[in-house]
Amino acid sequence: MSRIVVIGAAGGVGTRLVGELIARGDVVAAIHRRPEQAEQLRAVGAEPVLLDVADEVRSGVPDRLAEVARGADALVYAAGASSAPIDVARVVDGDGVAFAARAAQAAGVDRFLLVSAFPDAWRGQGMPAAFEEYMGIKKDADVALAATGLDWVIVRPGTLTTGARTGRIALGPAIAYGDVSRADLAAVLAEIVHRPGVSRQVVELTDGTAPITDAVDAVARL
Ligand SMILES: NC(=O)c1ccc[n+]([C@@H]2O[C@H](COP(=O)([O-])OP(=O)(O)OC[C@H]3O[C@@H](n4cnc5c(N)ncnc54)[C@H](OP(=O)(O)O)[C@@H]3O)[C@@H](O)[C@H]2O)c1
Repeated sequence: MSRIVVIGAAGGVGTRLVGELIARGDVVAAIHRRPEQAEQLRAVGAEPVLLDVADEVRSGVPDRLAEVARGADALVYAAGASSAPIDVARVVDGDGVAFAARAAQAAGVDRFLLVSAFPDAWRGQGMPAAFEEYMGIKKDADVALAATGLDWVIVRPGTLTTGARTGRIALGPAIAYGDVSRADLAAVLAEIVHRPGVSRQVVELTDGTAPITDAVDAVARL
């Protein structure tokens, strides 16, 4: 049993991840932004923690986040603000990651998983400038996390769907672009967080044919 902090716990990926972790017997500190999300998180067995990452970043001091993280085995950053104005996304998807990494370090929590984005997503499809900017913010966050001394793993999923958990994926340092369900992404995060052999690595994820445990075995440095 591990204690895992999930940031963005009430989101599409976050709720599914919380479910996966609880099913494994983990204790989950579920960081969420809106008060009304607490009940749903408590109902599935998580410990809801109301905390707005943007407010914390603006405060400049990661004390509150560090306090939540203290004693945890890992932190998973699954928050994102892709549909918010780009200035908000810059704080939540960008600065927030480096800020959470600082909080993890202050709390002595070494393991840090980040939900990033597949670099090829929607390329050449006439996406608005803000999308390009958003992708740049995601990449900058990866760079900032990879520069830390933490035991980080960056997961870059393809386009996320609301499809069912299939338990079958493609996972690797460089794979062809495709879709993946939030349910399968959550299952992969829950598996990787418990696999110390996957460390200081960037992995791309899409739908595929490999069972999740086999796919994670294949990227783990045993
Ligand atoms: N959509 C795609 O195809 C795609 C592809 C690759 C990667 N991704 C990445 O996947 C991640 C998760 O996606 P998703 O589908 O789960 O998104 P989502 O459903 O929008 O969930 C994101 C969560 O982050 C929370 N959040 C936003 N601002 C916050 C803040 N200031 N403090 C605390 N929490 C905050 C949101 O809170 P509220 O519930 O209050 O809004 C929400 O619960 C994002 O980082 C996204 O960039 C997405």
